[in-house]
This record gives sequence, C-alpha cells and structure tokens, in this order.
Amino acid sequence: MIMKKRRIGILTSGGDCPGLNAVIRGVVRAADKLEWEVVGFREGFEGLLPPGDSVILDKRSTAGIMLIGGTILGTTNRGHFVSKTGMGEKASISPEVIRQARQVLENLSIDALVVVGGDGSLSTAQQLFEAGFPIVGVPKTIDNDLESTAMTVGFDSAVACVVAALDRLHTTASSHKRVMVLEVMGRHAGWIALHGGLAGGADVILIPELPFDLEKVAEVVRQRDSEGALSTMIVVVEGAWPINGHPMAKTSGAGGEAKLGGIAEFVAHEVNARTGKEARTCVLGHLQRGGPPTALDRILGTRFGIKAVSLIEEGKFGRMASYQDDRLFDVSIKDAVHRLRCVQPRSELVQAARAVGISFGD
Ligand code: F6P
Repeated sequence: MIMKKRRIGILTSGGDCPGLNAVIRGVVRAADKLEWEVVGFREGFEGLLPPGDSVILDKRSTAGIMLIGGTILGTTNRGHFVSKTGMGEKASISPEVIRQARQVLENLSIDALVVVGGDGSLSTAQQLFEAGFPIVGVPKTIDNDLESTAMTVGFDSAVACVVAALDRLHTTASSHKRVMVLEVMGRHAGWIALHGGLAGGADVILIPELPFDLEKVAEVVRQRDSEGALSTMIVVVEGAWPINGHPMAKTSGAGGEAKLGGIAEFVAHEVNARTGKEARTCVLGHLQRGGPPTALDRILGTRFGIKAVSLIEEGKFGRMASYQDDRLFDVSIKDAVHRLRCVQPRSELVQAARAVGISFGD
C-alpha cells in the first residue's frame, strides 16, 4: 500500500521577532526527514482566506534563512483572525471566516497546521482547534509573557537589543551627567525590562507588575547625584504605570490591541520637575523586534520547529511546544493562553535586582 505523503502548513502570526525563520527552517528540515511536504501561509492567518496565499517550502527555499530577522512568510497582528483587542480583551472569530479557512486547508490537502504565535495568535489557534482544526503551536513573542513556557522565541534577541542600547546610553548620559529614561516593549509584562535592565546596569526598572511611586524614583536620582554618580539609567516598560495611574495607550486598538507608549516622556518630565536634573528619553521601539536572532533564539527556534513536527507525528493537536529547564515538553495551547505570564514581584530575579541596588520605584 502506498502511503499518502503528508502535507503540513505553517504560519507566523502577530508581531514579528528574530528567530521565526529558525522555527520555519526547523519545521521544514524535520518534515523533510519524514518525507512530508510543508506549505507556508503568508501574512499569518490571513493567508488561510480564499483562495489561500501559500508557498511550498523545502530545504532549498529555506536555506540561509535562520540568520535573517523577521519572517519570510510575513505576518500581521490585525485582520480577520484577531483574538485580542484594546488592552487585551478577548474577541471571537466569525463563523464565516472559520468556514472559509477550513475550505482552503481542505483544498490544499493540509493535514496539520503549525501556528507560530504569541498570546493573541495562539488564542486564535485555540479557537480554530476548538472548531476542529488540527493545530500545534510554537511560542514566540519578544514579551516572553506566555504561560507554560519559560521562554519564547524572540525574547533573548530583544533583551540583547536593550543591553546594547543601555551600553550606548550610559556613555552619553555620563558625559552630560543626565538621567536617561529608556522605554522598552513588553506590553503588560516586565520581562524585557527586567532582564535587559539587569544585564545593562540600569539603576531603576519600572515594570507593570510593580506600579511605581514617582517620588521614590526622584529620590533615587537625588541620592545618586549626592553620591557623585555621573548618570542615572531608568528602564521603563511601555505598559508600566504610576501608583493611582494607568498604562498609557497611544491608540484605542481598533482592529487589534491598543498601542502603548509615552511613559518615558512622562517619567522624564516628572523626574526633571522633582529633581531639577536634566532627563532625556529614548524609545527603543521596533529596534527590539528587528535584526538577526541571537544564538539562543536560533537554537530555541530550531528545537521548537522540530518539536512541532513530532507533535504532529504523534497526533497531539491542540498542544504547544514548551521550554523548561533546558528541555522541551508539550502543553495545551489553552493553558498557555489562559492568562499572561508576568514577573512575580517576589521572585528570585527581582530580589537579585534589588540586591545589586536596582530600584523598582516601589
Ligand atoms: O507583543 C509584541 C509587541 O512587540 C509588544 O511588545 C508591543 O507593544 C507590540 O508588539 C507592538 O506592536 P505593533 O508592531 O503593532 O506596533
């Protein structure tokens, strides 16, 4: 009996990040060993809409992509499959959109679909799984805020970018004896700021999990000044807020999640008003999502890609590849998206930061 060649689809969805191409390459190589075909869908879930925007991926067409940032398949965090809007509220995909996507997968004889996504995209994946789609998930997001995995693809590269920025900002801030406020991504989670700030020698780290007191931040600046410190480096997450305040949104998030931003300017203005010290801001923005992935993200992406193929081989749909203690496991996508994984204020990492003198403004 001749076995039918299996065809698996893959798409990258939500905000891009370094390491996505390593996942795609890992999936293609692992599938190739099983003599399966891989079909890539362009622009995230939108590629599933009729007539289907897809491309055959093989070892040849994916050669040399691992070192490239972004995603060769394209992606979007807007469109017909949005599962989170505003400040992270849930949204349902329309039954007609689901019907059309199912038809496209059937027309292309896709046996299983790998969804590489963060919280929003994997929430969409879960909705489609519940509608009967044979889906496995791979966790990616620079924010590192997915439950059930200790790390997501893209996080390490974003942290490396924050550290490089702090290294540069330190020298200019010290030359001018200034306060420098660096705004980083992360939405409602402080992972990027915590890791980046620790590695980059920040003096103050402001994260959404620990609302800050502006007077305490000002006091750190005054204290450092009185000790003769040349600069004070403050790292603030875009979604952080002062006690009795709220996260600053630049847009309401129509058609997707709200855009956050503006907190660095606010903090710099307040610090200047309270201490008289010159304060400057730097919003790192999408630099954190661009450029080549770190070695760690290339390895993690490759391992996740291989794991996704083995989950399909075992028929473990509705599951997501997960990383814990340098081992790969699988967890349910539902568990991974049921709430955001945030920094625990009493965790060892926060204590370590405090132990080296970093203030959280709390
Ligand atoms: O979720 C990843 C992320 O980079 C967040 O850290 C950030 O708030 C958001 O995406 C930015 O999205 P966009 O590219 O749509 O501005």
